[in-house]
Amino acid sequence: MSAIRILFLGDIVGEPGRKAVIEQLPLLKQMESLDFIIVNGENSAGGRGITPKIAIDLLRAGAAVITTGDHVWDQEEIVNYFPTEPRLLRPLNYPEGTPGNGSVVLETAKGRIAVMQVQGRSFIQPPLENPFIAAENEAARLRADGVAVIVVDMHAETTSEKIAMGRSLDGKVSAVLGTHTHVQTADETIFPGGTGYLTDAGMCGPEESVLGRNIESVVWRFKSAMPTRFPVAKGPVRLCGAIVDIDTETGACLAIKRLSLLLPETPAVPPVGAA
Ligand SMILES: [Fe+2]
Ligand SMILES: [Fe+2]
Repeated sequence: MSAIRILFLGDIVGEPGRKAVIEQLPLLKQMESLDFIIVNGENSAGGRGITPKIAIDLLRAGAAVITTGDHVWDQEEIVNYFPTEPRLLRPLNYPEGTPGNGSVVLETAKGRIAVMQVQGRSFIQPPLENPFIAAENEAARLRADGVAVIVVDMHAETTSEKIAMGRSLDGKVSAVLGTHTHVQTADETIFPGGTGYLTDAGMCGPEESVLGRNIESVVWRFKSAMPTRFPVAKGPVRLCGAIVDIDTETGACLAIKRLSLLLPETPAVPPVGAA
């Protein structure tokens, strides 16, 4: 039996988040013997969306696929970039004709790997097509194509919709990992059909914050009920995500563990030429 080890990182928030991810990815890859890395970049540009330059930087740092979410279109320049970069995903359940794709299949040394993203419809905008139907159809199409390893980013607000997605895809995909809330849940599991599951991977962003944003601004907003800007917070970054081991022949999840790593203020750079 051969297995593949995949790292999935939750929503990268702003410059602190992306700098930490870019610096740490090579080190994590080595330390955790990672074969494949997926990151959610929907908040990587100042907390709102992603730019082509940031996407390129994340791919160069070692990310194989970048997923997004409801903030996907926040930076205008990303719209025309989508058709040029299949490794950047937007939710699958956008209407037909939307720029970009909701899934991608990549060749690796350990065989083909599919990554798919869907977006929920409870307490999240905009209202998209039914993600359950879309994900099931896409998983069936990928499996019919002979792809066994399929990882799904379920970008949604409510725990119920995410768990329902995981259960609905159990036995049909390798893992369903949640994003969007920026708070990691502690419910990692492998469902009876063999699908690895985590309700939310958490975020890669400043620890002393409210979901990555400046604490005072968000508290003031809640107290005053008046509109304000929420700058990205500063200070030490926590990287959050999950590491999943998948059987490359059957596509079943063999193990899932959470990653939650508080980095020092200046992340250590791995020594040049470290084995
Ligand atoms: Fe989101
Ligand atoms: Fe987010």
